[in-house]
Amino acid sequence: AGGGHIERKGHQASSPERLCHTVQKRNRILRDMKHYSRAIVITGGAGFIGSHVVRLFVNKYPDYHIINIDKLTYAGNLANLDDIKDKPNYTFLKADICDFETILQTLRRYDVDGIIHLAAESHVDRSIKDPFTFARTNVMGTLSMLQAAKIFWESQKEQWKMSRVNADGDEVCTECRFYHISTDEVYGALELTDPQGIETPFSTKASSAHHHTYGQEFFTEETKYQPHSPYSASKASSDHFVRAFHDTYGMPTIVTNCSNNYGPYQFPEKLIPLFINNIRHRKPLPVYGTGENVRDWLYVEDHARAIDLIFHKGKVADTYNIGGFNEWKNIDIIKVLIATTDRLLGREEGADNDLITFVTDRKGHDMRYAIDSRKLQRELGWEPSLQFEEGIEKTVKWYLEHQDWLDNVTSGDYQKYYEKMYGV
Ligand code: NAD
Ligand code: TYD
Repeated sequence: AGGGHIERKGHQASSPERLCHTVQKRNRILRDMKHYSRAIVITGGAGFIGSHVVRLFVNKYPDYHIINIDKLTYAGNLANLDDIKDKPNYTFLKADICDFETILQTLRRYDVDGIIHLAAESHVDRSIKDPFTFARTNVMGTLSMLQAAKIFWESQKEQWKMSRVNADGDEVCTECRFYHISTDEVYGALELTDPQGIETPFSTKASSAHHHTYGQEFFTEETKYQPHSPYSASKASSDHFVRAFHDTYGMPTIVTNCSNNYGPYQFPEKLIPLFINNIRHRKPLPVYGTGENVRDWLYVEDHARAIDLIFHKGKVADTYNIGGFNEWKNIDIIKVLIATTDRLLGREEGADNDLITFVTDRKGHDMRYAIDSRKLQRELGWEPSLQFEEGIEKTVKWYLEHQDWLDNVTSGDYQKYYEKMYGV
């Protein structure tokens, strides 16, 4: 099934020929589908993290059918997946996760046995301006995904289990799984008790060579939820719904909470791509408040690798925190971005430090995020692959070499193109 094709909604068969054609097509899809050992829906696959997850799964598991469901908001861009769009085990469906009927129909149509749910509104600043959109997509959209999965999976002969015939003609049985991708921001903010930075008791391969921690506390899986922004409040609410579906109906769910991601294909409204682009064009760098806020940064491909591991080996109903023990004050990471961008552009390192412009602080700006990912390391043997210095070099290089991508997503041209193509 799939054949790297794009589904369009609202296509009605009207004549007998078209009806016949539709039935034939459906039979072909059903026949081909049986040859995949699994059918997995990934939501938000045209976004930043989702595109890395889709790419990893499509390439690593040719025997899985990967169905990417994305509404293609301003943050979703099919160009993020150009390299895999024609793979036979990949299907793209443009749809809103809040559209319950379409989601249910899609799960049925492809016999979906796994869902990796990333689709969300993800930018804190936008959530401060427009909280309704965040509640709609992040809360109601997640509920729509959960309810559709529940109805479809409960209708199977064996609840929460799917069987299909693989390419060798063998019947394989898989456990269904609803995997919800969340953020460390649901835990609220930690205090900056050691603003000068102290040596950290923990590290991973992702930890920077200049690795410090700025407080004694870390977010663990037991930390109480205390979200502050409309974004984190909506994610917290969706996490609760996911866990409620396990506790109430026995649905096989997993939740993970990850720290800030960085890497290619991130929409340039977020700190790292925005600032790289501004440095290149010598535009001011708007640093909120004093720049003392601390974030814990992980290379996006290492998050995708963790998602792969947890989807396959994680314990049902469990929670895992994902992060590389790599805390940075905003002002310090900004200086790294300036030095790296300057060097790669052949400018004197630090020549653009004067672009730093302190602006009014974000409302309710969380001071420090620092995640304790030791459970994931201990129980599933996860280890990130890239040290921060290597990851940031790769990232800056990627944005400098993909100015066309940046121009495209910021100009809104790609959005107009999709509107024309899909008539929405
Ligand atoms: P993103 O904004 O880059 O991508 C979100 C994707 O979801 C886009 O492709 C968008 O088109 C799609 N989408 C939005 N609303 C939709 C809807 N109603 N129906 C269908 N598709 C819709 O976000 P991201 O940074 O890749 O984050 C992905 C997930 O990971 C989110 O759930 C986010 O909360 C979580 N997360 C992000 C980070 C981070 O640092 N970026 C860290 C931890 C967790
Ligand atoms: P962001 O990339 O929006 O991620 P999050 O808010 O989810 O952590 O921001 C990272 C940090 O950078 C955060 O502390 C806010 C700060 N920031 C700025 O100082 N200026 C900016 O223009 C942006 C976008 C962020």
